[in-house]
Amino acid sequence: MKKILFLLIGILISSSIIGQTHPDWIKKSVFYQIYPSSFQDNDANGIGDLKGIESRLDYIQSLGINAVWLNPVFKSAFQDGGYDVIDFYQVDPRFGTNTDLVELVNQIHKRGMHLVLDLVAGHSSNQNEWFKQSMQADTNLRYSNYYIWAPYKPNDLSEQEASRWVEANAPRGKYYIKNFYDIQPALNFGYAKPNPKHPWEQPVDAPGPQAVKNELKNIITFWLEKGVDGFRVDLAASLIKNDPDKSATIALWKELNGWFDKKFPNGVLIAEWFNPKQSIEGGFDIDFLQPGHLFSPFQRGQKVPAKVYFDKAGEGELIKWYNDYKDQYESTLNKGYISLPTGNHDSPRIADSSRNDVNQLKVAMTFLLTLPGVPFIYYGDEIGMKYIPGSPDVEGSRTRSGTRTPMQWDDSKNAGFTLAETKKIYIPQDPDPNRPTVAKEDKDPNSQLNYVRKLLTLRASSTALGNDGEWKFISDPAKPYPMIYMRSKGSERYLILINPSGSKVKAELSSINTKKAIYVFGTSEKCVYKIGKGTDMITLPAVSAAIYKIE
Ligand code: GLC
Repeated sequence: MKKILFLLIGILISSSIIGQTHPDWIKKSVFYQIYPSSFQDNDANGIGDLKGIESRLDYIQSLGINAVWLNPVFKSAFQDGGYDVIDFYQVDPRFGTNTDLVELVNQIHKRGMHLVLDLVAGHSSNQNEWFKQSMQADTNLRYSNYYIWAPYKPNDLSEQEASRWVEANAPRGKYYIKNFYDIQPALNFGYAKPNPKHPWEQPVDAPGPQAVKNELKNIITFWLEKGVDGFRVDLAASLIKNDPDKSATIALWKELNGWFDKKFPNGVLIAEWFNPKQSIEGGFDIDFLQPGHLFSPFQRGQKVPAKVYFDKAGEGELIKWYNDYKDQYESTLNKGYISLPTGNHDSPRIADSSRNDVNQLKVAMTFLLTLPGVPFIYYGDEIGMKYIPGSPDVEGSRTRSGTRTPMQWDDSKNAGFTLAETKKIYIPQDPDPNRPTVAKEDKDPNSQLNYVRKLLTLRASSTALGNDGEWKFISDPAKPYPMIYMRSKGSERYLILINPSGSKVKAELSSINTKKAIYVFGTSEKCVYKIGKGTDMITLPAVSAAIYKIE
């Protein structure tokens, strides 16, 4: 009896530790993000499409990738690169048809890979039929309460709230609430604490917000039943208004994720929340850390310390990133996955300004692809495509166009992206005659592309280095060069050493109990690892990274 009791308690404890359920495939997943207008054009109109993506699946698979996320492919007005959806149930003709999407899913599945689409959950285009109907004076129509309409703008709004009010002078109301651009009216998921003096602030359980929630379920079901494996959810934290601590939004996602897990146990929902602590609590499988966020070791620019960690100057700091990462990692451990992607369609690429030579990029990739959680590679980052400053604003991209330039495949016209005339190309490509291409790097054993392939092969070969392996910082984050951390699982241990600086660096490592340190991969075999009594000494050349197996 006692034994059974202990067994039961044991099961209960372990299931509460494991907590949320995730499909098995995500434990070994490595994602590739594709901005569909910029990957491969099949019909020679200068813009990428689904058939183009399908023709490149062998390449994607050759990287060691087993899951693909596409930015929105639904019918859109393209005033925010597809994030302004006109019809959530229809592929935009620029990309192909719903049948083409099913064909793409089948081809992806045939290769044992998975496909995730982008769900713009919080808003639609102002050209969406739902919005057009909700503009009408009659408030009893099917879509009347899909959006938030107000007769006047209260004068006690915070500056941030006020910026969300768009004057429309529609029969239904003078103002609507938007999420991002004016053309993106927010869908009505309700207010966490509706103000009784503001009749437009409906509670989350009012019929309008409930209908919108059901519509979201219908969209998810529609595509999952076609074979799609899940969604990345755009601005997932934005759904419920006036919810400063996000508790109502977390509760909404808990419900939706609970429903989803039951109905589609093999599906994934990935949050664009940029706060895994909250999104994982809301039941998401994965959430991102912003590749260009305030403490990022990569970003440069306005809000970021001028001295970036991943730079030859070697003057960057790491402590803020470390504290943030450690906190997110520990809070979500065994519950869900965090991801620091190589980049995305909203942030500058890692190959940016002075961080541009192949060694620097290999060092950065060693870091990004040896972190725990699920790796995401933004198309082109594997060959070191550069952020192109000054690229023209296309379809609401603003400065983000520099990160959305079309893929560089080979040295043929338009780098093999399209047979269209160059002037018709979606966004002009990197004008450098020596721009990196897949074809060039494929042939070169020392290229970044082949480095990434080897890194992913190594990651796949070891549970310690994989998504569920443990992560422990070994160096002192306040002395940032080199950065050293351990990945481990059971008795298997790997030490990752990262030195983005242009100088040779040394470090002492104590209490890691080393019998043997075997160099398994990196940018330079010139790293020196000396095992001492209790303290090991390592020396890393300028701009280098190394992975040691520790026994
Ligand atoms: C997300 C997308 C971004 C888009 C915005 C509005 O942040 O990543 O590209 O512009 O949402 O939908």
